[in-house]
Amino acid sequence: MTTRLQSLPKIELHLHIEGTLEPEMMFALSKKNNIPLPYKSIEEVKEAYNFHNLQSFLDLYYAGASVLVGREDFFSLTWAYLLKCKENNVVHTEIFFDPQTHTQRGVNLEDVIGGISDAMKKADEELGISSYLIACILRHLSQEEGIETLKSLIPYKDKIIAIGLDSSEVGHPPSKFKTLFSLAKQEGFLLVAHAGEEGDSGYIWEALELGVSRIDHGVRCTEDAKLVQYLKQKHIPLTVCPLSNLKLKVFKHPSEHNLVELLRQGLCVTINSDDPSYFGGYMNDNFRLIVENFDLSEEEMVDLSVNAIKASFLPQNKKEKLMQQVQNFKNVTKS
Ligand code: HPA
Ligand code: ZN
Repeated sequence: MTTRLQSLPKIELHLHIEGTLEPEMMFALSKKNNIPLPYKSIEEVKEAYNFHNLQSFLDLYYAGASVLVGREDFFSLTWAYLLKCKENNVVHTEIFFDPQTHTQRGVNLEDVIGGISDAMKKADEELGISSYLIACILRHLSQEEGIETLKSLIPYKDKIIAIGLDSSEVGHPPSKFKTLFSLAKQEGFLLVAHAGEEGDSGYIWEALELGVSRIDHGVRCTEDAKLVQYLKQKHIPLTVCPLSNLKLKVFKHPSEHNLVELLRQGLCVTINSDDPSYFGGYMNDNFRLIVENFDLSEEEMVDLSVNAIKASFLPQNKKEKLMQQVQNFKNVTKS
């Protein structure tokens, strides 16, 4: 199964580029940019990654992101992630970034988007990996600040496919950003939002009211049978992140995760890595956790990639090409 898992073409739809910052690069950039970190060694960083909830993770995630300053830093970060995609046989990825995490520190938006986009272009040309960029609004900040950020993103419309919503969920429901999401839609951006990670199922209904194409996480939907039926009937994808959910104690044990239950009920669920450097694994590790704990069949494993192709923002012709790659994988005789 492990070799089959490796060779399955994978599509990632929930990945924060700031969450791919490995401790080694964090230390190197801290030194290069003369930005102090609250850790003495790489080992100390790793020991600190012992989270009890979303906020305890976010505090370290924002501290880590403070070492990213110049265009070349954003390039190096993104290139390193795209090399991981190659290793994990991820053939298409839709990458989140948090503009406010950087602009609030005085970093130029041009350098953030430029550095990330340069690496995405290089990966397309040299690794055959396609990608899109999604700008997430920080929900712990005000809607007004978010709208200012949205306005600053308009000149980069050709580089950004969608607007998302992330950061501290509880107390910051999707309805707080109604005007912002309506403006983003008018500007032609697609929409996604984190909902139902720590927030209850009501947050998912609210995200749907914003007009999102996908729900990021969404695992708390199982608290509401009507919502589960709605997500199924409307084919609304959930971008689920198993290792993240375990590290942040959304589920206590892998066997308690509801991804497979939702998959077997016919929902469009997908597997993703969220913040792989902080949560202990990239795409193959997230797939392996589910495949091993639920005795997933090869067909079900393939369904997860098929769901992700359908849920992606790729045009129909590109989706068909990826479907063909998955079909080719299925046709290879098992050894
Ligand atoms: N949830 C909310 N905000 C985030 C996450 C997450 O999993 N990762 C980075 N920002
Ligand atoms: Zn996330």
